[in-house]
Amino acid sequence: MMQKRTNPGHVGAREIYEALRDQIMALVYGTDGLLPSSRALASEMGVARSTVTVAYEQLAAEGFIETRHGARPRVARAVVGRGRTRTSSRPPARKVRLSAFGERLRQDPPRWTEPPRRLVANFRYGELASSDFPVLAWKRAVTTAMAHRPERLAYDDPCGSLRLRTALQAYLWRSRSIRCEVDQIVVVNGSQQGLDICARLLLDDGDRFVMEDPGYQMARHTFAATGAETVPVPVDADGLQTAQLDGIEARLAYVTPSHQYPLGGVMPIGRRHQLLAWARKNDAHVIEDDYDSEYRYDTKPIPPLHALEGSDNVIYLGTVSKTLSPTLRIGYLVMPTGLRSLFAAAKQIMDRHTPLIEQQALAAMLESGTYESHVRRARRRNAERQQALLDALRRRFGDRIRIEGTAAGLHVVAWFDGLPQKREDALIQAARARGVGIYPVSALFAGARPARKTVGLVMGYSALEVAQIERGCKLLAQAVAELD
Ligand SMILES: Cc1ncc(COP(=O)(O)O)c(C=O)c1O
Repeated sequence: MMQKRTNPGHVGAREIYEALRDQIMALVYGTDGLLPSSRALASEMGVARSTVTVAYEQLAAEGFIETRHGARPRVARAVVGRGRTRTSSRPPARKVRLSAFGERLRQDPPRWTEPPRRLVANFRYGELASSDFPVLAWKRAVTTAMAHRPERLAYDDPCGSLRLRTALQAYLWRSRSIRCEVDQIVVVNGSQQGLDICARLLLDDGDRFVMEDPGYQMARHTFAATGAETVPVPVDADGLQTAQLDGIEARLAYVTPSHQYPLGGVMPIGRRHQLLAWARKNDAHVIEDDYDSEYRYDTKPIPPLHALEGSDNVIYLGTVSKTLSPTLRIGYLVMPTGLRSLFAAAKQIMDRHTPLIEQQALAAMLESGTYESHVRRARRRNAERQQALLDALRRRFGDRIRIEGTAAGLHVVAWFDGLPQKREDALIQAARARGVGIYPVSALFAGARPARKTVGLVMGYSALEVAQIERGCKLLAQAVAELD
């Protein structure tokens, strides 16, 4: 029913979702309301089946369609009635003329889907358990922040509250051996805004940037939106393969050396020096995303790149999204002194500054030591969750599974060695039919996939209770058995 594109590379889940939604509202799908199967539509459109699945999931989450395992999706009954009245008065869609930036985002938008509800276990990475949030300590910190009532209600420093930056300076020294001036710290709305500022200030259309492959797609989207070209560099158990940087010219490299996202490698000191030497030679910046360094379960952490000698082209990124909540939107950058005023200017034109009450509350928690005692508690709970996940996976799958990235963080990667990658969609659907949310590593590759093309899953555990983890693994084993 949908028109086949001549350039399938430009059709994403968003476009398919929008086209289907418009067709549903225009009652294109007749009286039985049956849509094509995801496999049929994917081959008709010349896109991956998972792209269609994402579009269907979004339509289902918004109530446009009803899905049932093994059956073709159907237009939701409630929508059929509404569609009739809506379509008659709907003006024809107008093609908006976009900037080059807008056009790039239209063609390759980052993914966001409503978290599925009512799952038995959702192994989606990036969520925290609400029971882990230190409600009382946060309330107390907000009350303390409000008690220091400002004399006037006025815009604050775009770099962030001086009180929070001072508290962060001490925290970074205590916890990460980073020595920096308060002036080098900029408070941002999550690491994401830090990445966006870096992209805007350091990249132009036609430039090149190095990305770990597989890697953090939000970073890739952010840099690619400038028009710069991705240079994917493979990772192994030690993180970015820095030897492969030889001969690559690029303006920046984005890395997660403390716990490579997603494969979990910790970059050894030799590679760290190699990376810094490459950056110096190319006059490039290294963005060091230290997103989950609070969660180390075995060895002592290797000092961040930022703490190493001669690291004046490193921009360090930290966040409270893994310790307190991703909903707070608080992160921080430590940057080379020379870039400080530019970062401040960029932050100012974006949103003036990060909301002040939350900044002051975080400062109060850091000053009183409650932030670090909360982190210690959260680390213990997440270590228990990880152990429960590893035990359950080993019990259910034995040596048919290979697990990576257990040294740190809030997720592991599980490779199902006997399961070829072409069965990935089937596994995702079989698991979902049993109430288990699973997410493939394959979505995080920009370049070549690993030679052994087996199904790999990024399994987040920080939002789950131990019982859910165990039940989720049991159901996952049933889903895998169904495919055997
Ligand atoms: C690699 C990586 N960096 C950073 C973040 C956190 O981003 P933010 O601080 O914008 O919430 C995440 C969250 O999932 C991540 O996976």
